[in-house]
Amino acid sequence: MDINKIRQDIRGLADGKIFLNNAGSSLMPNVVTDVMTDYLKQEELSGGYHVANVNANALEGFYDETAKLINAQSRNIAFATSATEAYTKALSSIIFKEGDVIITTADDYISNQITFISLHKKLGVKVIRMKNLPDHELDLEDLEKLIREHHPKLIAVTHIPTNSGLIQNVEAVGKICRKHDILYLVDACQSVGQLAVDVEKINCDFLTATGRKFLRGPRGTGFLYVSDRVLEQEYAPLLLDMRGADWTAYDDYELFKTAKRFEHWEISYASLYGLKHAVQYANSVGMERVEQYNKGLSDRLRENLKSSGFSVWDWGNRLSSIVTFSGPDGDLEKIQQVLKENNVYFSVTYKNSALIDFSTKNIHGIVRLSPHYFNTMEEIETVSEILKNSLK
Ligand SMILES: Cc1ncc(COP(=O)(O)O)c(C=O)c1O
Repeated sequence: MDINKIRQDIRGLADGKIFLNNAGSSLMPNVVTDVMTDYLKQEELSGGYHVANVNANALEGFYDETAKLINAQSRNIAFATSATEAYTKALSSIIFKEGDVIITTADDYISNQITFISLHKKLGVKVIRMKNLPDHELDLEDLEKLIREHHPKLIAVTHIPTNSGLIQNVEAVGKICRKHDILYLVDACQSVGQLAVDVEKINCDFLTATGRKFLRGPRGTGFLYVSDRVLEQEYAPLLLDMRGADWTAYDDYELFKTAKRFEHWEISYASLYGLKHAVQYANSVGMERVEQYNKGLSDRLRENLKSSGFSVWDWGNRLSSIVTFSGPDGDLEKIQQVLKENNVYFSVTYKNSALIDFSTKNIHGIVRLSPHYFNTMEEIETVSEILKNSLK
């Protein structure tokens, strides 16, 4: 991995900032904004329909690149405008009835939890969260027990939560889902672009991701993976449009075969094109390499923070490039001030976004640093030193 070249490909680093908010919204490679700007200029001159026709093959490449990224086929990929859009479309394709059960986790993303609660309030769906073991890993025996007792319609797991470094064992849950033939939805919003994500190994039916985070694409983009198994069973969004089906009779339609049936007809093609190039960039760097490199950065950052006296809040056996911490006395304010003064980009998560996790940890919030493969070990040492000095 040629870090110098990778850094030269980022105009956003020219001012010397240390950018550690890749779990929020990362810096795009130059090529992403260049192709988007060029695409919009073409639309300015010829109108969107003409430009989409002329660029049809290049746009179609989005599906091939994304499939390659997660070890799927192009037919399994749908473009989405966000991870949440992908998630709600996937959920809408499952016809829930009163009394149906969804099993999820205590660490699933805030919006997923709110959606499940909404399904409970509106449709009487029962939401059950599987237990964590004392080391914060998922209690898979508890999951098997819950499945035997409740025969759930869906199991939903967030691969990497937004608010801690935990990496959930989504492969082990996938095996259990296959054994019991239960639909499996994985929120891979924070893992795609950060880890080598393989849908064959995870064995999921749906997987959702966003463009702007570790994948380094533009805002307003994301994608949904839909397995062949689910496509063959004719799952489709509840509120389907002409992107999803052919209107074959006054009162009938025929579903299109591929995951594109989960898209809406109207999207920003400039954004899809930008995301294609972001995914292509990630594929060319190589996700195994990115994963390994990121682990080196985040392990070092955690060690440094702990040895300086900060409380590091990442629980679990396998940790990601999301590093969460607070001051020795729980302070978040001073840390934020020091990071801002030193042009370090970061984010903060408060308890309302991670109600269960932060209640268990008995904290009101964390500062989040999320390094990525364009960061250097020198940057990690610099930030660690800045933070250490702030405690003096
Ligand atoms: C784990 C996780 N899932 C889902 C989302 C939602 O992504 P989007 O804002 O693209 O809908 C986020 C965003 O922070 C996230 O961290």
